[in-house]
Amino acid sequence: MVHRLFIALELPDSIRETLAGIGPPMRRVRWLLPDQMHLTLAFLGDVDAEAQAALETKLAEIRVASFVIPITGIGTFGHSHPKVIWAGVGHGHPHLFALHKKVLDAALAAGLPTELRAFHPHITIARADGASRASLKPFLKKHADTEFGMARMDHFTLFSSQLLSGGARYRIENRWALAD
Ligand code: 2AM
Repeated sequence: MVHRLFIALELPDSIRETLAGIGPPMRRVRWLLPDQMHLTLAFLGDVDAEAQAALETKLAEIRVASFVIPITGIGTFGHSHPKVIWAGVGHGHPHLFALHKKVLDAALAAGLPTELRAFHPHITIARADGASRASLKPFLKKHADTEFGMARMDHFTLFSSQLLSGGARYRIENRWALAD
């Protein structure tokens, strides 16, 4: 059995509900539902059961302290026609970056290829397909500095993703606590 896996931080329900409610209906923009929102640490793609077991063993060994991050501001990836609209987490979170690095190390130790691109922590709240930056501008301007709340991160989660016509459906495969 092969699962399409990724590792992410879950967010408080209240923040996800707030984020799901801020987007005005817009052509060529699909706002995500609260249960589709998370902060991805690593995307692994298709992984077979044996490699998943090895990965879970390595993830269970991670020791990073729990931490709090602010969910703040809205931005985009993509220039004239953004592809992703995201909520940010501010700057300077050593525990978040330490956790990201340890998750990549765990994936490598389990023999899984990982992306070695710079980590830009974000929470995707919408996917756009052809919407112009100009059409998004009023929304982006309004929320450039909006504070959506503080999120306490006390565990991290291995998710599997199923691609369905209405968007991805995510299932929790396992969770590990961060240290107190
Ligand atoms: P995104 O929100 O920044 O698009 C599950 O697909 C999660 O893994 C998404 O939140 C997505 O991040 C992330 N991800 C990272 N790289 C991916 C890739 N190459 N394909 C699909 N999802 C990816």
